[in-house]
Amino acid sequence: MSVSPDAATAVRAPARAVRDEVLLSVRGLRVGVADGSEVVHGVDLDIPRGSAVGLVGESGSGKTLTCRAVLGLLPVGVEVTGGEIRLRGTDLTALPAAARARLRGTELAAVFQDPASYLNPSITVGAQLAEVLRVKAGLGRRAARQRAVELLQAMGLHRPEHVYAQHPFELSGGMLQRVLIAMSISAGPELLIADEATTALDVTVQAEVLELLNDLRRDRGLTLVVVSHDLAVISQTCDTVYVFRDGGIVEAGPTRRVLRAPRHPYTRELIGNHERFGIDRVREQGSGR
Ligand SMILES: Nc1ncnc2c1ncn2[C@@H]1O[C@H](COP(=O)(O)OP(=O)(O)O)[C@@H](O)[C@H]1O
Ligand SMILES: [Mg+2]
Repeated sequence: MSVSPDAATAVRAPARAVRDEVLLSVRGLRVGVADGSEVVHGVDLDIPRGSAVGLVGESGSGKTLTCRAVLGLLPVGVEVTGGEIRLRGTDLTALPAAARARLRGTELAAVFQDPASYLNPSITVGAQLAEVLRVKAGLGRRAARQRAVELLQAMGLHRPEHVYAQHPFELSGGMLQRVLIAMSISAGPELLIADEATTALDVTVQAEVLELLNDLRRDRGLTLVVVSHDLAVISQTCDTVYVFRDGGIVEAGPTRRVLRAPRHPYTRELIGNHERFGIDRVREQGSGR
C-alpha cells in the first residue's frame, strides 16, 4: 500500500492571510454545578487560527470544564450559565445539542489523559479508527481502512499495518495516545484540545507526543489548545498561555514573557514550584513557535 506523506489530508492547512483570524473566542464564560455554585467565573479566551494556546493551573482550577463547555460535553449536572463561545463568529451556546454533536470531530476535537478508556478493549485499534472514518468522514469500508493505516503512519507509529490489527492492551500508553490523536483528527477538525493528554506518560514519551502535536500544527495547520498543570508541557508547545486559578484567569500572554517576567504572584508561585533544573528547562524552551 502506498502511503502519501500528506496522508491525513482531512486536516485543512490555513491560508497565510487568515492566520491572525480568531478561530475561537470565549467571552465571560460561566459554568455552574447542580448545587447552584459556580466553578468557572467569567473566562475570556482568544484562540487564533493556527496558534497553540496553553491553559495552565493547578488541579481544580477550571481548565477541563472550560474545555468541555467549548466541546459541548459538560458532565451531567454541570452547565454553562453565562457568556459566549464563538467559533468563527457563531455562538455555540445557542446551538441545539444535535448541531453541537455534528461539530465534534469535524470542527473541534479533543484527547484526554486516559486513552485506553476511550477504546473498546475487544476490537482492534485499526477497526475502531476505520469506524470513526466511516461515520465522521463518510468514507467507504476500503477507503476507511486505507486511510486508517495512513493516519497511523502519519502519527509516527511504525509498522502501521501491524498496529492496525492490534488490540488496545497490546499497545503502550504513548502508542494509544497516538491512536487517539489519529481518531480525533480523522474527520478534519480545525481545533484540537489536548487536556492533560501526556500527563500519564513518562517524560521521554511525553516529549515525543508533544512533538507530534507540534508537527500536526506546523504541517497541517491544526490549531491547538494544550491543557496541563505542568508549565514545562505548555512551554514545549504553546506561544500563548492563560494561567487559571480558582475558576478564573489570573494572567495571560506570550509564553516566553509569562515565564520570564510573570506579573501575577500566583504565576510566580507556579514557576517556583518547578525545581531549579525544571525552571531553567522551562525558561529555555519558553519560546513557543
Ligand atoms: N462533574 C462535576 N460536578 C461538580 N463539580 C465538578 C465536576 N467536575 C469538576 N467539578 C469542580 O469544578 C472545578 C473545576 O474542575 P476542573 O475543570 O476539572 O479543573 P481542572 O481541569 O483545572 O483540574 C473543581 O472545583 C471541581 O471540583
Ligand atoms: Mg482537568
